[in-house]
Amino acid sequence: MENRFNTIAGWVLFSGIVALGLSSLSSHYFHADKPERPETMGYAIAGVSTGGAAAAAVPIEALLAKADPAKGQAVFAKCASCHNAAQGGPNGIGPNLYGIVGDSIAQGRGGFAFSDALKKHAGKWDFKTLDAWLTGPAAFAPGTKMTFAGLDDAQDRANVIVYLNKQGSNLPLPPVPAAGAAPAAGAAAAPAVAAGDPVKGKAVFAKCGACHTNNAGGANGIGPNLHGIVGDDVGKGRGGYAFSDGLAKVGGKWDEAKLDKWLTSPRDMVSGTKMTFAGLDNAQDRADVIAYLKAN
Ligand code: HEC
Ligand code: HEC
Repeated sequence: MENRFNTIAGWVLFSGIVALGLSSLSSHYFHADKPERPETMGYAIAGVSTGGAAAAAVPIEALLAKADPAKGQAVFAKCASCHNAAQGGPNGIGPNLYGIVGDSIAQGRGGFAFSDALKKHAGKWDFKTLDAWLTGPAAFAPGTKMTFAGLDDAQDRANVIVYLNKQGSNLPLPPVPAAGAAPAAGAAAAPAVAAGDPVKGKAVFAKCGACHTNNAGGANGIGPNLHGIVGDDVGKGRGGYAFSDGLAKVGGKWDEAKLDKWLTSPRDMVSGTKMTFAGLDNAQDRADVIAYLKAN
C-alpha cells in the first residue's frame, strides 16, 4: 500500500513538473515578442535535469514494445569489440552473450572469468536488470571489468536488449503498463527532487573524500580542494591545481545546474576529464551533496 502510495505520489509530482514545463513553454510562446521577456525561460529546479527526467519516465516496457531488433543489431556494433552473441561463439574481452536474457548474472558462459563485482549480483538478467546494467555498468556493479560507459539513449538500450533476446532467449516481452496506471515498481524513479539536505549531502560526500577535501585551506589531492566551489570558477585557481585541458576549457562559474550535470556524469559533460568518477545516479544525492558544498 505504502509503496503504491509513493508511486502514485511520484506520478502526481511528475505531472506537476510536466505542467510547469508546459506553462513555461506557453508563456514563452505567447510572450515571445514582449520586451519583458526574461533572459532564461522556465523554472530551474535544483537537481532536476528536465530532459533526463522526462526520458526516465517512459517505462522500459513501453520502449521494449516499440523496440526494433534490426536497430538493436546496429547498436550491438558498440559491443562487438568485446562480445559476440552467436550460439557457441567464443568469449572475448567480454563473455559470449548467446541466450543471456533470462540467464544467471555472471555465471557459466564457458568459464569466463567474471569480476567479483558482477558476481556479487545474484539473480538473473531480466529486461530491467539489463536496462540498468547497460545504462551504466560501473554504477550497476562498481568495479566491473566491463569498461564501457553505457548507452545514454533509453531506446538504444531497449533495441539492443530486444536484439539480444532474439539470440537464443526469445522470452516474451513484459506487458506495457496501461496509460495512466502506476508503473511497475522501479520503472520510473519519481523525478521530483526535494531541496538538497546538507546533512545528507555530507554523507554522500564520503564518496568524494578519497580525492577531495573541502575545508578552508585544505590540501589538493587527486582532485582539487572544493571549499567555496559553488559560484566559483570552473577548472581554474584552486591553489594551482593542474586541471585537465577539458575542464579548464569549460569556463564560467559552477552554479547548481552545472554541478548537477557534472555530478551526473563527469565524463559526459567534459570528455577527457581527470575525474574518474562514474557519477551519482540519484538526483536527490546530487542535490544533497550540492547543498553540502554550498554550505562549506
Ligand atoms: C570494452 C569491452 C566491452 C564492451 C564494449 C562491452 N562489454 Fe559487456 N562485458 C565486458 C566484460 C569484460 C564483461 C564482464 C564484466 C565483469 O565480469 O565484471 C561484460 C559483461 C557483460 C554482460 C554480463 C554477462 C553475464 O554473463 O553476466 C552483458 C549482458 C554485457 N556485457 C552486455 C554488453 C552490451 C549489450 C554491450 C554493448 C552495448 C557491451 N556489453 C559492451 C566487456 C565489454
Ligand atoms: C577518483 C577521484 C575523484 C572522486 C571520487 C571525485 N572526484 Fe571530483 N575531481 C577529481 C579530479 C581529478 C578533478 C579534476 C578534473 C579535471 O581537471 O578534469 C575533479 C574535479 C571536481 C570538480 C571541479 C572543481 C573545479 O575547481 O572546477 C568538482 C566540483 C568535483 N570534482 C566534485 C566532486 C564531488 C562532489 C565528488 C563526489 C560526489 C567527486 N568530485 C568525486 C577527482 C575525483
